[in-house]
Amino acid sequence: MSIIRKCLFPAAGYGTRFLPVTKSMPKEMLPLVNKPLIQYGVEEAMAAGITDMALVTGRGKRALEDHFDISYELEHQIAGTAKEAALTEIRHIIDVCTFSYTRQIEMKGLGHAILTGETLVGDHPFAVVLADDYCVTEDAGVLSQMVALYEKHQCSIVAIEEVSADETHKYGVIAGDREADDLYRVRDMVEKPDPESAPSNLAIIGRYILTPDIFTILRDTPPGRNGELQITDALMSQAREGRVLAYRFRGRRFDCGSVEGFIEATNYNYQHVYGAVQ
Ligand code: UTP
Repeated sequence: MSIIRKCLFPAAGYGTRFLPVTKSMPKEMLPLVNKPLIQYGVEEAMAAGITDMALVTGRGKRALEDHFDISYELEHQIAGTAKEAALTEIRHIIDVCTFSYTRQIEMKGLGHAILTGETLVGDHPFAVVLADDYCVTEDAGVLSQMVALYEKHQCSIVAIEEVSADETHKYGVIAGDREADDLYRVRDMVEKPDPESAPSNLAIIGRYILTPDIFTILRDTPPGRNGELQITDALMSQAREGRVLAYRFRGRRFDCGSVEGFIEATNYNYQHVYGAVQ
């Protein structure tokens, strides 16, 4: 069993870049061909040895709960036919994992969504997956790589990747001291900087391992950029004490929160994943 037992999925955001489809459908239910983004995230967590899935949802997000539940009528209809095989993976997930949910009532930012998840997470280190960042790897998944690092370092870890200067304004960007080829001890973090004020080109993507003191810090953190409670602001408190690592993961990430990234990931999966499992 993994030293990290819970994975939190903040999934309450409005997904405005995909309107109108996200008016009544969660962004996290958008499929890469035939499997929703959230399921890829859950599978990545399972591959890292995590079975307690905690979802922060919001209004209009009930489809997420239904996806991780039995659909009696449908399952009765296709029982004994070849179509049943299409449900093998999701049935396994439902058998092996537990799912708990809480709602973010007001969308006050990612930091606020994570703080809302405290009631599900409790006083343990935990993983965070933003399902709209879809990651593919050749060997161990990104969360598996990070859990292995956590076992060694026992502090908060953020996944990072290099981005071009014209993209820094979309991400939290770090400055750090290099400890190994792919590992930095974070010194500074800036949320969505312009290229001129970005401390580096190392951007935080949607995978974190957080120590539970982050909840107390979040409670004391004032709203930051865009009036939202920013997780990067809270992480800065830990970073000032040298307690945040940034890890350049092995693999490739698709930004499925943007239409371009979503189309790229769809094409990638159609070519590399979908055909291979049919
Ligand atoms: P995004 O910045 O992608 O925002 O959130 P969004 O609302 O989902 O999408 P756009 O920009 O309107 O198209 C990053 C992650 O944080 C979650 C989102 O669900 C997403 O996984 N989030 C964000 C929350 O859960 N609550 C919030 O208040 C904000």
